[in-house]
Amino acid sequence: MSKQEFFSIRGGIPLRGEVKVSGGKNAAVAVIPAALLANSPCTIENLPDISDVHVLIDMLEWLGAKVTFDGSTMTVDPTTVSRYNPPYELARKMRASYYLAPVLTYRFGRAEVPMPGGCDIGARPIDQTVKAWTALGADVNTQRGVLTVTGEPLHGADIHLDMPSVGATINAMLAAVFAEGATTIHNAAKEPHIVDLANFLGSMGAWVKGAGTDIIRIRGGRPLHGSTYAIIPDQIETGTLMIAAAATGGDVVITDAIPYHMESLSAKLLEMGVYVHDEDDRIHVRGEGLLRGINVKTQYYPGFPTDLQQPMVSLLSIAGGTSVVTENIYEARFRYVDELRRMGANIRIVDRVAIVDGTDRLMSAPVTATDLRAGAALIVAGLIAEGTTEIANAHFIRRGYEKIDEKLRHLGAQVEWYTREVPD
Ligand code: EPU
Repeated sequence: MSKQEFFSIRGGIPLRGEVKVSGGKNAAVAVIPAALLANSPCTIENLPDISDVHVLIDMLEWLGAKVTFDGSTMTVDPTTVSRYNPPYELARKMRASYYLAPVLTYRFGRAEVPMPGGCDIGARPIDQTVKAWTALGADVNTQRGVLTVTGEPLHGADIHLDMPSVGATINAMLAAVFAEGATTIHNAAKEPHIVDLANFLGSMGAWVKGAGTDIIRIRGGRPLHGSTYAIIPDQIETGTLMIAAAATGGDVVITDAIPYHMESLSAKLLEMGVYVHDEDDRIHVRGEGLLRGINVKTQYYPGFPTDLQQPMVSLLSIAGGTSVVTENIYEARFRYVDELRRMGANIRIVDRVAIVDGTDRLMSAPVTATDLRAGAALIVAGLIAEGTTEIANAHFIRRGYEKIDEKLRHLGAQVEWYTREVPD
């Protein structure tokens, strides 16, 4: 027997009330490593209290940085960093561990970072990162499961990404700010966390222009100093809460959000017949009557985010008619559909397409989260379903959703975390 964490949900209760969004996971995991580029301490505010942030703290401390974290504000003193090789046991727990490679190369002329882990949602190659660093003059080796980067000094370069990869854009930016001279990243990712990282680097004294467009220009080699910076709200948590509100026929105001980041989702919810209204940093969502099925195609930002595909399919499973959802970013991001079927959803998968025939209701069942956003999809399904749904492997949810139990209870849901012994 071994202990496992579960999340249980008594479904069928419309969510009502106001809920505040936490700081963005994917911004946090880029900004925190970037703090190691400074020559003095940084203060990072509005961080989410999630397990990915705690894994990063463990890695920074292991490397020798002094870190404090009160659940929202972090201080990082990089001046005491003395190692360039974070351990496999920590690095494998998250995708973003490889953002440490460029910043450690800056400090030591060398980094040895275990190849990145993260959610199992399809092939996650790093060839574009390797290409970017190589263009900047680094020697990159990926043998024996370790990403070894050497090279000092790096120099500015023209980098052409084959696709607007978030990870490659971040890794190129983190290296280009200390590479001497001008770098241009063509076909850059445009996600909100790219802009957040650029703003943080700017606050440290870096010259970075164009983030949020296809072309990012960086003049590297300036000394970077510590700064105080607040992370943007989490786009995917905002979206998950919007979807949950609609799915339960609820009436929810999401606060401290950036509605502009949510436009691709808001447009789709409106198409389904959901009431969505933005005002400053608040988004009001009300699920009214029978919702219409729609078609969704995941795209790079500003298209519909792949990270919301999973919770969106849970919502579509109770919409009228047939919906067609095409996953263009990851080939294996439909694994959770088997679990939704156990709850009564009518979904067929053909290659990268989910064909969802709406049903009147879902029924609770024991289900298992296969990754973070699969966990989010099962939470949405559990909120809809009659009876009590128990999600196994629920630790995935802690990677990206701060205090999700408290937030949902505040909106009237009956949910709880618990651990219990399960047979091995
Ligand atoms: N790709 C390559 N080669 C590369 C890099 C990417 O072929 O060198 C391909 C990937 O296989 C994928 C596509 O390009 O098909 C996009 O990958 P990207 O590099 O943009 O993704 P990522 O940086 O690994 C980040 C988020 C993911 C999110 C994706 C897409 C972080 C830490 N992770 O991953 O977030 O799904 O962008 O928006 O920022 C999540 O939060 O649940 C999550 C998985």
